[in-house]
Amino acid sequence: MDSQPRPQILFSREQIEATVSNLATEINNNYRGKHPILIGVLKGSFVFMADLIRHLDFLLEVEFIRLSSYGRGRSTPGEIKVVQGLRSPIKGRDILIIEDIVDTGHSIAFLMDYLQKKKPASLRLCALTDKPSRRQVPVTIDYLGFTVPNKFIVGYGLDWDEKFRYLPDICFVEVED
Ligand code: IMP
Ligand code: MG
Repeated sequence: MDSQPRPQILFSREQIEATVSNLATEINNNYRGKHPILIGVLKGSFVFMADLIRHLDFLLEVEFIRLSSYGRGRSTPGEIKVVQGLRSPIKGRDILIIEDIVDTGHSIAFLMDYLQKKKPASLRLCALTDKPSRRQVPVTIDYLGFTVPNKFIVGYGLDWDEKFRYLPDICFVEVED
């Protein structure tokens, strides 16, 4: 039989709801009167983004961007590329990136650099989770949901081999590197 890892709950849906609501309060305070573009990093951020924006109360636009991923495991990425780009210009706009997890930091460092070259008025990062024990390049997270241990995280949009994105809690699985 094909054995699958069994996800175990790290943060429950109730904890997520409270944390997302607190993050939204902070973001509302900082973006009041502004008209930013929120850029969700596909695919992992889609559940978080959907919940977060429903707590926001300023004029905002939503965009998505997709980067090449590292595939199944958690090994260091090769070259990172934008595989699905933005549909609208961001020059002079306030930009808030919505990411699922900052792990080694390579993807987000690449993305910040890529977006900065397009000359936004401001560029900030909101991440659902942070795994600082794995960091290889420095990343400043302006709005953070949860710090997670050095485990493979799934659920609430995050996947392992495209599985478990639909789980309503943030879980971890025991998998090989
Ligand atoms: P980084 O470049 O190592 O910071 O991680 C880039 C991407 O890998 C993240 O945006 C996630 O999509 C994915 N990733 C890293 N760690 C995990 C994890 O624990 N669970 C699920 N996806 C992960
Ligand atoms: Mg991601």
